[in-house]
Amino acid sequence: MSKVTIVGAGNVGATAAHIIASKNLADVVLVDVAEGLPQGKALDMMHMRSVEKFTVSVTGTNDYSPTADSDVVVITAGIARKPGMTREDLLKGNTEIAAQLGKDIKTYCPGVKHVVVVFNPADITGLVTLIYAGIRPSQLSTLAALDSTRLRSELAKYFKISPDEIRNCRTYGGHGEQMAVFASTTLVAGRPLSELIGHEMPEGDWHDLQQRVIQGGKHIIDLRGRSSFQSPAYLSICMIAAAMGGKPFGYPAGVFVHNDEFKHILMAMETQITKEGVSYKNVQGTAEENKTLAASYEHLCKLRDEVISMGIIPPVEEWRSLNPHLK
Ligand code: 2OP
Repeated sequence: MSKVTIVGAGNVGATAAHIIASKNLADVVLVDVAEGLPQGKALDMMHMRSVEKFTVSVTGTNDYSPTADSDVVVITAGIARKPGMTREDLLKGNTEIAAQLGKDIKTYCPGVKHVVVVFNPADITGLVTLIYAGIRPSQLSTLAALDSTRLRSELAKYFKISPDEIRNCRTYGGHGEQMAVFASTTLVAGRPLSELIGHEMPEGDWHDLQQRVIQGGKHIIDLRGRSSFQSPAYLSICMIAAAMGGKPFGYPAGVFVHNDEFKHILMAMETQITKEGVSYKNVQGTAEENKTLAASYEHLCKLRDEVISMGIIPPVEEWRSLNPHLK
């Protein structure tokens, strides 16, 4: 039986554990610094076992030793966004936590196959975790894919059709205030979205829809006073299931990128998660879309450089001393 460690027994972590157990996917170790919390939630889930007929176990713990030899780690820890905050406002506190969690992965789970980072700002916490965990870039992905699923859902609502009829919709770059929401990749019931914009879909409506995607997380917080957790938990399980050899995951996830155009950064690209890990291809967009992606990249570089200046990660040229797999 495979073993999944979920770091953080809050809403995302506990919901993810529940989904894994219900699917009978893997034994789960739920770890959190709050005494009693992961143990209590694990016990609660184990009480469902006779009804749900899953055979995997859910264990709660405050220390990392039971996480040893996990196949996959999902990191949901850190501070969640509150009303009035952007994802970027969490930068300092959550990157400090990411640095420690990266070291914990290196110590306790050196054989891990894949790590999915959920906590915000996920592009940067993912990068920090990768640097300290010492794993290969193909072994870590982040939850930016949530934005493409929101785009799909908004388009389906707008055109009053099933989400199944929205194909290949994509957001790239950061999972934050400056994500790049593309139109040119998408087919709506077989027709290119770019051809519908300005005709069946007025330009203003497309602009508003892009904003609803960018502010999708904020909208949920405004409505219920706390951050999203059902969809992040569900999606992270789709990602780890792919990494464990299940159905490949094709929404654009956050991945470490270093190529001719983008350097030393982690952001959403055209990705695929399979049992070989996460791989990416360059993004194909219009000149205008590519400009938005470049702006998203610049924004992430600023955040990365802030984290370097806070001393949480070393300058880029020293990353290799912590993680030899990074260029
Ligand atoms: C969101 O966008 C929590 O980042 C997550 O809802």
